[in-house]
Amino acid sequence: MTQGLNLDEPGFDLHRNRRKSWASAFAIIRDPLASLPPQVFTHSLVASRIFGRSRLFVCDPVLVHEALVRNADALGKGEENKRVLAPALGNGLLTADGASWKWQRQTLAPAFQFDRLREFLPAMIAAAEETRDGWLAQGSGAVVGLGHDLMTTTFKIILETMLSGPGQIDAAAVRRGVSDYLKPANWMGLLSILKAPRWVPYPGRRRAMKAAVAMRAAVQTMVAARRRDGAAQQDLVGLLLAASDPETGRAMSDEEITDNLLTFIIAGHETTALALGWTLALLAAHPAIEAKALAEIEAVTGGGAVKPDHIDQLGYVRQVFNESMRLYPPAPLIFRAALRDFDLGGHPVKAGTVLAFPIYALHRHVKLWDDPETFDPDRFAPAEVKARHRYAFMPFGAGHRICIGSAFATMEAVAILAVLLQSVRLEPVGEALPAPKLRITLRPAKEIETRVFPRGDARQ
Ligand code: HEM
Repeated sequence: MTQGLNLDEPGFDLHRNRRKSWASAFAIIRDPLASLPPQVFTHSLVASRIFGRSRLFVCDPVLVHEALVRNADALGKGEENKRVLAPALGNGLLTADGASWKWQRQTLAPAFQFDRLREFLPAMIAAAEETRDGWLAQGSGAVVGLGHDLMTTTFKIILETMLSGPGQIDAAAVRRGVSDYLKPANWMGLLSILKAPRWVPYPGRRRAMKAAVAMRAAVQTMVAARRRDGAAQQDLVGLLLAASDPETGRAMSDEEITDNLLTFIIAGHETTALALGWTLALLAAHPAIEAKALAEIEAVTGGGAVKPDHIDQLGYVRQVFNESMRLYPPAPLIFRAALRDFDLGGHPVKAGTVLAFPIYALHRHVKLWDDPETFDPDRFAPAEVKARHRYAFMPFGAGHRICIGSAFATMEAVAILAVLLQSVRLEPVGEALPAPKLRITLRPAKEIETRVFPRGDARQ
C-alpha cells in the first residue's frame, strides 16, 4: 500500500507507478524530467514510490485547483524545496511558509502593482536594444548563444528595475554563482527525497556551497551600503528596509533582506531568459509563425522604434510567448508537502505526503491538448483560452503562492521579443531545438546557437 494514500478509494483515475527505486534515483540525477512516470501525461493522479517514500503527482487542472487553491492552507513548501534552495535563498519569499511568508509577500507586493510595472518598460526596452545592437555589431550571419545573451539582458533588467541599477552589486559574481549552484541541484533533490543527512557529500557540493556564500556576500555588501547611505528609495531594497512585522513590529534583519534580494535576483532573471531562449528558437524553426508575429509588430509600431505604449497591443506576440511556455515551462515541476490530512478528488491525502505538480506534463497532457507536441500559438487566442480550464496552463504556478513576478515577466518578454524580432532574423545552427533538461528550471541540454541577420538581408 502506498504510504499516505488510500488507493482503494474511488475518485479520479489514479495510476500507481511501479518503477524500481534505483532506476528512478539514477533518472533523477541524470534528468528529473525524464524520471517522471510516463502516466503523468495520460492520468489525473499518479502515485509513485522511491525507496519507500511516496509522492503523488497531480496532473489534472481540477485537482490542481482543489489542492493549490481550495486546500492551500493544508500545504507547505516542504523539505524538498527548502533543502535545494535554502543554502542560497535562506527563508525568503520563495522558500518561506506561514506568517513569515505572508509578511514578506505583503511587503513586496507594492513593487509589482500594474502601474508600477509599466514604469519599468523603458528599462526593459533599452536592455533589449542593447542586446540587439550587440548582435548586429558582430556582422550579418554571426553565431550567438541565445541562453548566454538573454541571461545578460534579463539580469540587467532585474538590477535596473528592482535594485536601482547595476552599480550596487557584483553582477559577475552572482551570475557565476547561479551557474555553479545549479549544477548539482539534481543530487540535492534526490538526497532530500531520501531524507539523507545534510552532511552527505555529492559531486559539486563544495563548489555549490562556495557559490551560495559568494552570492550572499555580494548581496550583503549592497544591503550594508544601502543601510549606511540611509536615503529612502522606492525599489525592493527600500521596501525591505522599511518593512515592519505586522505582529511584532520588528524590522527585517540584513539576513532576511539578503534572502529576498537574492531570491528576486535569481528567480527574476533566469526563468524569463530561459523562456525567451526557447521562444526565439521555436520562432527560428517556424518561419510562418515568426512572420505573423513580425507583421503584428510592424502594424503596431508603424515600422518605428518599439515604445512602452505598444506592448499591451502585441496580443499575438504574447500568444507566441505563452505557447512557448506551454511546451517549455521554465519552472516545470513544483512541490508541496501536506501539513494535514485532506481530500483530493476523492482520495484521502495524509499529512506528510509529498505532492508534485508536473507543470511540464500538464502542458502536454493528452486529455487537455489536441496534438500537444505541436507549436501553435493560436491555442492562446482569447476564445480558446476562455474555453479551457484555467489551470490547464500554469507556467507561473497557482493559488496564493503564484509567481509574484508573472506580469513583470510577461511584459518584459513581449518587450524584448518585439525589439529583437523587429530588427533581426534568426536561423538555427545545427539542431533547432535541443532536448530540454531540468535543473530546477528547464534548460536546453546544450546552448541554443543561432545565426543573426539584420532584417532585410536575404535568407542564406
Ligand atoms: C517566465 C518567467 C517566470 C516563470 C515561468 C516563473 C515561474 C514561477 C512559478 C511556477 C512560481 C511558483 C513556485 C511554487 O509554487 O512553488 C514562482 C514563484 C515566484 N517567482 Fe516566478 N517566474 C517567472 C518570473 C519571475 C520574475 C520576473 C520574478 C521577480 C521579478 C519572479 C519571482 C518569483 C518569486 C519571488 C516567487 C515566490 C512567490 C511566493 O511564493 O510568494 N518570478 N515563479
